[in-house]
Amino acid sequence: MSVAEAIGGWIDVCASGELVEGGDGVRFEWLDPREGGGVLPAFVVRFDGQPRAFLNRCAHVAMELDWLPGRFFDEAGLYLICATHGALYEPDSGACVAGPCRGAALLALRCEERGGRVRVAAEPPPDR
Ligand code: FES
Repeated sequence: MSVAEAIGGWIDVCASGELVEGGDGVRFEWLDPREGGGVLPAFVVRFDGQPRAFLNRCAHVAMELDWLPGRFFDEAGLYLICATHGALYEPDSGACVAGPCRGAALLALRCEERGGRVRVAAEPPPDR
């Protein structure tokens, strides 16, 4: 896991080139700014040309999704898949579309690409 550093309200995660469409993701530590918050595992992948960041926590049981470090996509590269019970999530919205937590969603984090780097906002995600 890369150790990210929060600078100016953003966590620098990786170089843009590290994220390939539908390919391996990059794991990082998200520093939860909420009261009592700690360091939580998170990840970023590329889908539809954009970086997409989520907490690495399945909506079914609070397990990390990747079946090998950084492997979040299914074989077709169309859905994020949980290694534990196979829940499928849309990579753009994080919505679960199949599996035991259908209708729930991953917790999305705001992220952007700037100057060849991918960064994630060090701010509380919107409540669901
Ligand atoms: S823990 Fe992810 S589908 Fe059950």
